[in-house]
This record gives sequence, C-alpha cells and structure tokens, in this order.
Amino acid sequence: MKNLVFATNNRHKIDEVNSILTGSYRIISLSEIGCFDDIPETSETIEGNALQKARYIFENYQQDCFADDTGLEVDALQGRPGVYSARYAGEGSSYDDNVVKLLEEMKSQANRNARFRTVIAWISDGRELFFEGVIDGAIIYERRGASGFGYDPVFVPNGYDQTFAEMPPQLKNKISHRALAVKKLVDAILKKGK
Ligand code: IMP
Repeated sequence: MKNLVFATNNRHKIDEVNSILTGSYRIISLSEIGCFDDIPETSETIEGNALQKARYIFENYQQDCFADDTGLEVDALQGRPGVYSARYAGEGSSYDDNVVKLLEEMKSQANRNARFRTVIAWISDGRELFFEGVIDGAIIYERRGASGFGYDPVFVPNGYDQTFAEMPPQLKNKISHRALAVKKLVDAILKKGK
C-alpha cells in the first residue's frame, strides 16, 4: 500500500478520502509528517489556495502531496461564499455561524441553486496538476440532518431528497464534490504508476 500526504489535519476529509481510496492508498495527514504549521491560505481563488497549501508542504517538507480547497458557490449570492466559505461569518467563525449567516442571506431568495466546488492540487515530481469536482444542488430553508460538516445540513444535491447531512456518509462520499475530484486524482496516480 502506498502512502500519500494530504495537506490537511481535518479528520472528516481524511476519513472521506480514505473511504474513496478503498484500501489502495494510505492517506498521511500533516501531523503524521510532523507538520503543525498554520499553512497560509491567502489566495482569492479556490485553485490558488489548493496550490498554495501543496507548494508549502513540497517546499518545507520535501514530500509529494496533494491539497484541496472547497467553496460553496450560491447563484443568488453571486457565487458567495465561494473561496471564503470557511470564514463566511467572519474570522474564526464556526460551521454553525456560517450556516446561520447563509440562511439569513437566503431567506427571501427564490433562486436556491448552488454548488460545491473542490479543487485538488497535486505536486508530483515537481509537476503541478489540478483536479476539479463539482456537485450541483439547492440550499434549503432550514437545516436537516446531523452527519457531515460545514454546510451539509442545508445542501440537497440535485436528484436526491436528503441533505448531505441526512444521507448515509457512504453515499455522500460517493457523490460529493471532493469524491469527484479525488477520483480524478486517483486515476492520474494510477496512470502514472503504469
Ligand atoms: P476547505 O477549504 O476545503 O476547508 O473548505 C472550506 C469550507 O467549505 C469549510 O470550512 C466548510 O464550511 C465548507 N465545506 C467544505 N467541504 C464541505 C462539505 O463536504 N460539506 C459541507 N461544507 C463543506
């Protein structure tokens, strides 16, 4: 089994990616390579943030790695919160604060269309590659469900009745923005290994 550094310490994400890889790779978190740094994420794009995190690990820890960045893009809010999804309600805001703010801003909006967009930047032998995963859906009016994280309780993917927080985690991990991006990454890794 091969090791892959994922430039995150977010347990939710590591678990999600591990379940997508189903045993062919072992994901190594930042703490497992002894990195406890607060990695800068100062770009104004999702792609830029993913690359910034991957480059930071490559340059400071000399490890091939991948990093992801995700944004929730809401049409009625001109694509916000987008790259600011983690701190939508302000610096240091919790998942709950961000959901409260989103529901408030969406209160009188008829257009509920939104999408999660993940970009993964992979640095492999010094080459920088990008993989994108997008899932379209709708923002509902009140939270539903207790699993997942972030905006999961208010996002219903197109073609489903349940929010990401209501559906079994295995289902979310199969159809999610991150799953789609990770699948592309894994295909590229497998191709490279041939
Ligand atoms: P990150 O850049 O990947 O850490 O994601 C930024 C923010 O987007 C997170 O703090 C969450 O609020 C939100 N987010 C990312 N992925 C998901 C997801 O799968 N479900 C719900 N919210 C998410």
